[in-house]
Amino acid sequence: MAQEVFDRVAALLEEIEGATAETAEQVEAFRIRYLGSKNVLKPLMGEMRNIPNEQKPEFGQLVNKTKQAAQAKFDALQESMAASAGADAGARFDLTAPGEPLPLGSRHPIALTMRRIIAIFERIGFTVAEGPEVEDDWHNFSAMNTPEDHPARDMQDTYYVADGLPAGANNTAMLLRTHTSSVQARTMEHSQPPIRIIAPGRVYRNETISARSHAQFHQVEGLYVAEKVSFADMKATLLHFAREMYGDKTKIRLRPSYFPFTEPSAEMDIWWGLETEHDYRITKGTGWLEILGCGMVDPKVLENCGIDPERYTGYAFGMGIERQAMLLYNITDIRLMFENDVRFLKQFKSVL
Ligand code: DAH
Repeated sequence: MAQEVFDRVAALLEEIEGATAETAEQVEAFRIRYLGSKNVLKPLMGEMRNIPNEQKPEFGQLVNKTKQAAQAKFDALQESMAASAGADAGARFDLTAPGEPLPLGSRHPIALTMRRIIAIFERIGFTVAEGPEVEDDWHNFSAMNTPEDHPARDMQDTYYVADGLPAGANNTAMLLRTHTSSVQARTMEHSQPPIRIIAPGRVYRNETISARSHAQFHQVEGLYVAEKVSFADMKATLLHFAREMYGDKTKIRLRPSYFPFTEPSAEMDIWWGLETEHDYRITKGTGWLEILGCGMVDPKVLENCGIDPERYTGYAFGMGIERQAMLLYNITDIRLMFENDVRFLKQFKSVL
């Protein structure tokens, strides 16, 4: 009887010592069987009463030894499990290897140029204003004193948006804005002078796409309306801009021009120089490059937008961004700006 119990314990001890585990599940099964709350070693102490007194100490020791073996085995199995997981991971990750470089984006030349222009005007008190790209006829044309028969309204230049408006509805035709001047009208109709804004943004014209022109491009508009604003104020501000943008020695000239929304109107050129063959080509042999259009805001525009033209005067200007980006970065084809070819884009200043 006693011998049978001794044998059972011995068999368990042997079983424990010989145990192996391949998986975490097997380690857990081992734990439940030998160390869990209903483990197979528990009932053994109860067998003590069937053991003759003289053998009790020996039996007790054997049971203890078995329990300890179970604990030791369990610890060993767990350790080897962790070690092999570590070895696996080690095979996959060499923690001493240099990191994989993350490809870093770069800023678009249009964005870089636009930011530069904005920063120059922000430093002298202009704030950024915005308007929608899908615009109504009123803000894009009528408010800006552009007559119904003006060629700019022609279907050939303007992309109209068919949106189910009632046929013949006046001034409600929707279009893709052809210039950022629409933001002038939007700003003036809900604020009173002094107004000093710049409006950067995308514009659209139905143009044949070539190396020099595109159907989508960007402009920055400027507007200053207050009491006693003069043409001289405008000229000084634009000269300051040209020098910040193209260097302290930059010269400008203003040529008389025509825009429906300004009177008088002018176009501003910067002196580019005639040093290289390239200079000859881009300035058409004159050395001057046209940068922007400008003028004194036509009183009719102020009136259209709810501002008293007897009391206030203002100047406005508008410039294309692509042209300037091309000058700054020596880009010879405007189409590159809209193709998102990373070989082109990654040549510009990185995002960081
Ligand atoms: N809107 C004109 C264009 O797209 C540019 C322009 C000229 C804007 C004169 C102005 C301005 O504000 O005063 O060609």
